[in-house]
Amino acid sequence: MKKDLLQVGVIGAVHARNISRTPGAAVAAVMDVDEARAGAVASDCGATVYSDAAELIVDPAVDAVLIASPDAFHAEQAIACIEAGKPVLCEKPMATTVADGERVLRAELAAGYRLAQVGFMRVYDRTHADLYDLLAQGEIGRALSFCGEHINPWRAGATIDRAIVNSLIHDIHSARWLMGAEISQVFVQWVPSEPDRPRSARYAIAHLAFADGAIGTLAWNGDSGYGYEILVKITGETGTAQTVGHVSPVLRQGHTVSQDVTPNWPQRFAQAYIDEVQIWVDAIRAGEPTGPSAWDGYMSLVVADACIRSVESGLPARAIGIDRPRLYSPR
Ligand SMILES: NC(=O)c1ccc[n+]([C@@H]2O[C@H](COP(=O)([O-])OP(=O)(O)OC[C@H]3O[C@@H](n4cnc5c(N)ncnc54)[C@H](O)[C@@H]3O)[C@@H](O)[C@H]2O)c1
Repeated sequence: MKKDLLQVGVIGAVHARNISRTPGAAVAAVMDVDEARAGAVASDCGATVYSDAAELIVDPAVDAVLIASPDAFHAEQAIACIEAGKPVLCEKPMATTVADGERVLRAELAAGYRLAQVGFMRVYDRTHADLYDLLAQGEIGRALSFCGEHINPWRAGATIDRAIVNSLIHDIHSARWLMGAEISQVFVQWVPSEPDRPRSARYAIAHLAFADGAIGTLAWNGDSGYGYEILVKITGETGTAQTVGHVSPVLRQGHTVSQDVTPNWPQRFAQAYIDEVQIWVDAIRAGEPTGPSAWDGYMSLVVADACIRSVESGLPARAIGIDRPRLYSPR
């Protein structure tokens, strides 16, 4: 790969550093509306600074694009990449509405082949991937339930809507991916962080029904008070399997047992971000991306939208998307 485009906030800078160390890739250009941030990251990578995403996307010297701008810009920038025929790794969520998600999907369908990958990087996390393999090998039989916990340190000013579309969407994708089934219905309950702001979010639970009859829950904590954890437990017909939350040693000392908890997502998923870009680069050099697809991005938005409708109505809500196009058939 000759060149990449990056946009550089917190995660953009992480991706820039990782790509600059990825065999077969180079960071050629960096774009941010904040030119000082772009310049700082570009100078670390020896890359050119751009101030306009559209210009960069059509630059013939740019082979592939990684979008790490704020959520609201993802759909337009991803569509511009697809229309320019450039592979694009778009951070989650792929869009902020189902309608915009469908526009990205239809742009790729018009191209006729896969160009887009969505940044659901848990598929590259070892403990999640091991759980996926164990389920695929039939170790616990048919999966009956999915219990996910997404435990954050303090998230300033979170609303329930943003918690769902920006954060819980990781868990929505994780549940679809690991259970191998679409989520067909949701029911959301939550505790506001500020009693006078009813749409503020401190803690939320989404109850799930899957299209194959399985059930589940996604619990979201906006302020754990102790750090960051992502936990998954799946109950099957012949056993139960769960991810390992921590990799640090268990310490017994002075009448206590203790274990470190990662402060936040950059530390917890550091290796997954490295593997995500390495596998993305290798896959697009070989032909097309293999990671979470525009279909995954779209269906996760369909479920997120149902969650928001459940918040508004106080009732269960159906998650119904368009039929899965053949381009996204399981292989
Ligand atoms: N996959 C993950 O685990 C993960 C983790 C963190 C963030 N994200 C996603 O990455 C995106 C960025 O998150 P962040 O935490 O780095 O945010 P951030 O606020 O730190 O960075 C966003 C950057 O985008 C720039 N920006 C603003 N408008 C822009 C535009 N129109 N075009 C290009 N750049 C623009 C800002 O100046 C800023 O530097 C979000 O969509 C978020 O959901 C994903």
